[in-house]
Amino acid sequence: MKISEYEKEQKMIEQKIWALPKIEKGLALDIGVGDKGLSTRKLIELGAKVVAVDFDLNNLIKQKNLDKLVQCNAPHLPFKNSVFDLSVAFFTLHEINPRLHLNVVSEMARVSKKVMIVEPMPGQEPVNKRYDDVWSKAMHSIGKFEDHQEIMYWKKLMEKCSLGIVVCEKFREKNRIPPQKVDESIEGIVTLMNSYGVSKKYIEEIKGLGKDMRNKGMRRSSIGVVIGEH
Ligand SMILES: C[S@@+](CC[C@H](N)C(=O)[O-])C[C@H]1O[C@@H](n2cnc3c(N)ncnc32)[C@H](O)[C@@H]1O
Repeated sequence: MKISEYEKEQKMIEQKIWALPKIEKGLALDIGVGDKGLSTRKLIELGAKVVAVDFDLNNLIKQKNLDKLVQCNAPHLPFKNSVFDLSVAFFTLHEINPRLHLNVVSEMARVSKKVMIVEPMPGQEPVNKRYDDVWSKAMHSIGKFEDHQEIMYWKKLMEKCSLGIVVCEKFREKNRIPPQKVDESIEGIVTLMNSYGVSKKYIEEIKGLGKDMRNKGMRRSSIGVVIGEH
C-alpha cells in the first residue's frame, strides 16, 4: 500500500471530523494545544478565533504564531460561563486522569455552548491491544495517562453535564499503516519515552511491537467524535 493512499485516507477522515462542528466564526476554546498546535491551527483555518490552553508551559512556548494562549489545568478553567461558542478537546482527554474526566467535561460545558471531544478508541486488533497496553503501562509508570475509552464513555459524560448529543460517530481507517510510517511512529515514541525517563523494559517492548506492526500490519485505532450542545 502506497504512503500517498494512506495519507489521503487520513486527510479525508480529518476533513470529515472537522466538518462536524460546523465552525463558522465565533470564539473557540482548544483544550490541550499539544506540541504542534494542530487542532488550534485547524480551528483558526476554519474561521474561529481561538483561545488555546495547556498545563504544560513547554508546549505553550513552542507555539510561535499563536497569540491567545493560557496555561491552566483543564478541570479548572479560568473562564466565565458561556463565553465560548465551542470548546474542543482533540486527542487530549486520554492524557488526563480518568477520575478528572467528568470535571473537565463539566468545565467545558460551563464555559461554552457546544462541546466537541475527539479521542482515539481502544485498539480492536491484537497488535493494537498490545500497543495500547504497553503505552498505557509505560505512562502510568511515570504518573502520566494514556487511557483510551469507548465512544459511549464520552457520550455518557456529556449527558451527565446536561448536554444534548448532536454527533456521536466513529471513524475507522481501511488502510493499514505503511511500514515506513510504522518506523517513523516507533522512532517518535521511543524518543518521547526516553525524554520522559520511561524504563528500558517498556521501550524494548514497543520496539518489539514495531516489528509485528510492520510484518503483520496494523490499522490505527478508530477515532470517536462526540459533540454535545446546550
Ligand atoms: C496529544 S496533546 C493534544 C494535541 C493537540 N490538540 C493537537 O491537535 O495538536 C495533549 C495535550 O494535553 C495537555 N494536557 C494534558 N493534561 C492536561 C490538563 N489537565 N490540563 C490542560 N492540558 C493538559 C498536554 O500537555 C498535551 O499538550
